[in-house]
Amino acid sequence: MFCFFIFGFLIASTGTLGSTECQLKMSPPRVMVEYGGSVSANCTSLYSESIGLGWESTYGGTGLKRGVTTLPFSIESVKEWEIGPKCYVTLPDSPQCSKKLAVTVYQLPENVSILQPPSETGPKVEGQAYSLQCDVVNVAPASLLSVYWHKGNEIIKHEDFEDSTLSPVIKSSILQLIAQRNDNGLQISCEAKLNLGPGEGIHPAVQSKPHKLTVLYRPVFINPETETVQLSANKKITLYCNATGNPAPVYSWHFPQLVEDTSKNEDVNQPFLTPSFQLPGNYSCNASNTQGTSVKYFTVIEPTRDRTTLAAIIGAFVALGVLLFVGGLLFVTPDGTFSFTQSKYLRGQPTSSGPV
Ligand SMILES: *[C@@H]1O[C@H](CO)[C@@H](O)[C@H](O)[C@H]1NC(C)=O
Repeated sequence: MFCFFIFGFLIASTGTLGSTECQLKMSPPRVMVEYGGSVSANCTSLYSESIGLGWESTYGGTGLKRGVTTLPFSIESVKEWEIGPKCYVTLPDSPQCSKKLAVTVYQLPENVSILQPPSETGPKVEGQAYSLQCDVVNVAPASLLSVYWHKGNEIIKHEDFEDSTLSPVIKSSILQLIAQRNDNGLQISCEAKLNLGPGEGIHPAVQSKPHKLTVLYRPVFINPETETVQLSANKKITLYCNATGNPAPVYSWHFPQLVEDTSKNEDVNQPFLTPSFQLPGNYSCNASNTQGTSVKYFTVIEPTRDRTTLAAIIGAFVALGVLLFVGGLLFVTPDGTFSFTQSKYLRGQPTSSGPV
């Protein structure tokens, strides 16, 4: 019984809502207007019989226009953050009803910038955690704002804001980072976008000035950390120690004793080295900067001309052996005789020309 009562009440209330919904069509249904910009819309009555239409607004209304079914309205310059012009219709035998035009007044941010506490500016050390703050100044409405963080060509963070304030506000987004060597030299920027919907065509966006990342890291070799290099009879060898690092690495070389004594005058602060005396032994190179020293080892070995000659001779012998073996398979029949002599020398049978 009680349930029926509630059910009945629901039907009654929705019925009431349906009947109070004013049958007016707004074109466009939603208006996005920049603060200071103009608004224009049409209101059309969907009733079969209506006496007239009118617009009501703090910017001045139209008064009731009798005998029209469509009525235009415009505001030259919007100077408020919340406006609600209303269109009303007068009907023959029911009360007047009205509908509000949905208007969003927006303002693009006056300024978008990346900030860092003064104590945190300057280069970061690899592995260090830090944060950057993006301030979006005087943007409206905050509920339509999206902040995008760009690192190089990537979007690394996106933030929306829940704030029902219609007038301009300052919004901040914080980006947490860990200094990585690959970030050194990359640019971070922050972009503030207003999601005005497809009606507005382009999505207005304001981008901050880029913030350059500087990460200090110890030298890392471009090639493997240990290399074996073979001396050559006709060409000088060069050892490469090139490393990346921030600050730029400085290099120093260590040679086998014999070379050390004879290469006093070589420029050994280069990332590569062509020893003037091409001698085997263990060489090493230090790449250093303020963040540390990395060591690369080279094992320089004798040219192996003798060994290759020996290998060639052994190879030739093996090849000959294989050739003989394959030849044997082809020409020797299963009973052990040579196939090409079979007609002349049949086993156990004297030939006709042989002695009896
Ligand atoms: C309103 O209607 C008039 C006449 O049909 C049309 O020219 C005008 O573009 C319309 N304005 C809007 C904002 O839809």
